[in-house]
Amino acid sequence: LFGTLIVVFLLIGIVVYLRVFNSEVAIGNSDYSLLASAYDAVKGSQESCESLSDNASPQLTLFPVSRTTSLPLEYKPPRLLDITKEVKTLNGIVCIRSDIAPYLIALMENAKVAGHELGITSGFRSYERQKSLFDFWRRAEPDTYFEEAAVAGYSEHHLGTAIDLTSKSVGWESVARNFGESPEGKWVHANAYRYGFVLSYPEFGKPSSGYNYEPWHLRFLGLKAAQAIYDTA
Ligand code: DAL
Ligand code: ZN
Repeated sequence: LFGTLIVVFLLIGIVVYLRVFNSEVAIGNSDYSLLASAYDAVKGSQESCESLSDNASPQLTLFPVSRTTSLPLEYKPPRLLDITKEVKTLNGIVCIRSDIAPYLIALMENAKVAGHELGITSGFRSYERQKSLFDFWRRAEPDTYFEEAAVAGYSEHHLGTAIDLTSKSVGWESVARNFGESPEGKWVHANAYRYGFVLSYPEFGKPSSGYNYEPWHLRFLGLKAAQAIYDTA
């Protein structure tokens, strides 16, 4: 009887171990950088930019996409460009709208002149990709996912004009919480407007955006609008 009990307990132990430690939910309880690398795997893109683009589409550069305002769900940005060969990128192919590429390249090159090495971890994200990222966060962080990731159709990344940055001093990590305090992040926050970019989710912006602080996430609005936002911030 004793032997049988030991076997039963062992079996229960194995089942509990597999359920708790092998499930995706367990990711949420572990170190944040582990979560970030798991996120990279979901984020990585193999798609070509051209096939995701529709040149007949409008640009929607100033479209007020937000937690409550979605894009047309079938929206494809015009003229997406693979920026992977132009600037440092991580996680595979990164597509952005071709007309903003010169601004982004200038931002990154001038950062380099000032001694700051930046990389891009994410650019355009299709409806389907956003959906898989959202699902990833929902499983990984069941209590906070809604403050971290936009529902598919509601993301600025769907416009082809939003980017996520990383840098050498944060170890080229995605969604690095400390990017804003890094020398590169500080330079970006002080200078992005000169290239038409704004920080969409600033430190105390949660009451209006509904999203947590994302020091890495920039959106291109053009020189005029970015300057105006910088002046009023
Ligand atoms: N992380 C931002 C809110 C997005 O998913 O678009
Ligand atoms: Zn982002």
